[in-house]
Amino acid sequence: MLLSNVQKHFCSSQLIKSNLLLSLLFLFTTQVLAQKQTIIPIETQHHALALQVGADQRVGITYFGKKLKTPAEYQHVPTMYRRGDDYSGILNSAYTPAGSRNLVEPAIQVTHSDGNTSLDLQYVSHKVQKTDKNVSTTSLVLRDPQHPLEVTLFYKVYHDEDVIEQWSVIKNNQQGPVTLHKYASANLYLSADRYYLKHYHGDWAKEMQTQETQLTAGIKVLDSKLGTRANLYQPPTFMVSLDKPATEDEGRVLYGSVEWSGNFRVDLEVDPLNNLRIIGGINPFASAYTLAPGQEFTTALFLYTYSEKGKGEASRNLHRWARKYRILDGQGDRLTLLNNWEATYFDFNEPKLAELIKDTKKLGVDMFLLDDGWFANKYPRNNDKAGLGDWQENVQKLPHGIGYLVKEAKNNDVKFGIWVEPEMVNPKSELYEQHPEWVIRQPGREEHLYRNQLVLDLSNPQVQDFVFNVLDNIMTKNPGVAFFKWDCNAVIYNAHSTYLRNQSHLYVDYVKGLYKVLDRFRAQYPKLPMMLCSGGGGRVDYAALKYFTEFWLSDNTDPLERIFMQWEYSYFFPAISHDNHVTDWGKQPIKFRTDVAMMGKLGFDIVVSKLEPKELQFCQQAVKNYNSIKEVVWHGNLFRLANPHENDFASLMYVNEAQNRSVMFNYMVGNRYGAGTGSPIKLKGLNPDKKYKVKELNLYPETRTPIKEDAIYSGDYLMTVGFNPQLSTRRTSVILELTQQK
Ligand code: DGJ
Repeated sequence: MLLSNVQKHFCSSQLIKSNLLLSLLFLFTTQVLAQKQTIIPIETQHHALALQVGADQRVGITYFGKKLKTPAEYQHVPTMYRRGDDYSGILNSAYTPAGSRNLVEPAIQVTHSDGNTSLDLQYVSHKVQKTDKNVSTTSLVLRDPQHPLEVTLFYKVYHDEDVIEQWSVIKNNQQGPVTLHKYASANLYLSADRYYLKHYHGDWAKEMQTQETQLTAGIKVLDSKLGTRANLYQPPTFMVSLDKPATEDEGRVLYGSVEWSGNFRVDLEVDPLNNLRIIGGINPFASAYTLAPGQEFTTALFLYTYSEKGKGEASRNLHRWARKYRILDGQGDRLTLLNNWEATYFDFNEPKLAELIKDTKKLGVDMFLLDDGWFANKYPRNNDKAGLGDWQENVQKLPHGIGYLVKEAKNNDVKFGIWVEPEMVNPKSELYEQHPEWVIRQPGREEHLYRNQLVLDLSNPQVQDFVFNVLDNIMTKNPGVAFFKWDCNAVIYNAHSTYLRNQSHLYVDYVKGLYKVLDRFRAQYPKLPMMLCSGGGGRVDYAALKYFTEFWLSDNTDPLERIFMQWEYSYFFPAISHDNHVTDWGKQPIKFRTDVAMMGKLGFDIVVSKLEPKELQFCQQAVKNYNSIKEVVWHGNLFRLANPHENDFASLMYVNEAQNRSVMFNYMVGNRYGAGTGSPIKLKGLNPDKKYKVKELNLYPETRTPIKEDAIYSGDYLMTVGFNPQLSTRRTSVILELTQQK
């Protein structure tokens, strides 16, 4: 069809108009889209963190808390807060750079190859990668527009468990070296009226002492500078309650931890807007790290879970995550054991050990664990002053080698495990004489020992080979060895490596070296159970637990002390990872000691032959009872019922997923007149509609239970009215098993 001129004119003006309209529409939609694209929600099942890219391309955290039903609504959150007094505009930065406009604690601080010390990080792109239905990782690339340095932030989401792991990768794209002065894993930003920090401190045999305190303006730092055994004074685990201290079942609480087996640092800064900045990662103390051109640095991981239903739910989230994704064989089995450390210390020989192996069988546990003292000949390991580093069987004590003991164990139908401390050396050892250059110490300075020993330089690949070979040689010669206890007793004094050119890399490269050895070990022996021991709980973190099936909480096995420690560890680590041994520490009877050890993985470190007949009978029965309930303890959900810090007793219970079996542990921690459970304790985690029978376990021979074992209670009753375990100063520990009745 032909168009007239008028028509043509009309059409073309119409065309221009509609083109204009189209362009306007396009502009509008792209702007809306661009605005929409700037919100990056990181969501778990119940919780969300919203990142927002500002007009200036800087990325801030605009929301942290309960997940919203409509993710688009996260964009409204910033408009509800008065952020006008944030002069820098980046108080809420997702990864706060130092040296430019920031004036608070940075997450990253660098010196560029040209000596410039400023850093600005701007959004480049982001993507989400799904591992499976439950796990996905959001990565966010940031770049400095002036100096070619790239930072990628990673947020790994474990949806069902409400857990997030964060880390960053820093890449030097410059022509020359870049020095990292601070390189945190994560930078969080929380808003509440008040913040309450529960954190931990301690020392040998005093692990997990706790304090809960309100954070005031300024920075509270949790850190370690000990190098190895980094948690001796302080672990990297903590929790922060928002508005008021969370209880077991109520309140908003964040559990956090740095996944790093060396120096860590967590800054908790209440900023001028009364928001809480949390920056966690490797401790930058004496650890400036230089990156060559093209090189990248992957930080440690920072782990957290958040709950709006109190500390109990936060623990269960973390436990579920740890069992499923982190602890080696976290959903598997564990070996009960008899350890000889406190039974013999260094004083043993083949016949004595053969007797202990028989006792292992007599007791009914799965394995005999040979501890320190079995090695070294020129400087025999007869005390802790000599021999460490010389990993050959001592011919006086073990003339027929480890092989003989493995065979003896087999003959008695038990397994055999062995202690090692491969990262360390006594100056009085052949290793020290042969390889002084492998030892961490400052040249020209007097050596300073910790437990008479020094630390080997794991940043050196030769030392890594040596450490790997300590374990590999044992396994190659004795494939029947079923378990290792990996100890680590000394801290690093006089930090200096003869191997490293750059001394400020030592603390970081030590840990990386350790992980290289453990990776190699696990490639060869993927499932061999291994205890993470560090003179007690000196090294308990979720990076190490990837390689270990369990950890040693403390050398302090006084059951009264243990109730408190096990309670505190239980916030962060599931029972399947807690190694609890019955020893002669404390003044409590064997029943109390055993009952306390049963709320984790049970072991014994006593002289079985010295037990009275009734005591032996009790222990044998307790092992049988433990075997019948261990499934519930190892894989069940934990509910803490009565806090020993607030009562003269402690009470907690584990419930299996099917809610048809449960075990309740009750212990007296005070003995004042009239102390005990005067009223019922409300149970948790049961099915209100199911019916349960209650049976008392671990009764001492010839004692009877006051519990009515033939009564049947509904879950509703047990959780509403409760149950009285009848603790008193004459009944100081009570274990109850609840079984569903059809
Ligand atoms: C420290 C550990 O914690 C103890 O259990 C024991 O293995 C000793 N070391 C042995 O030296």
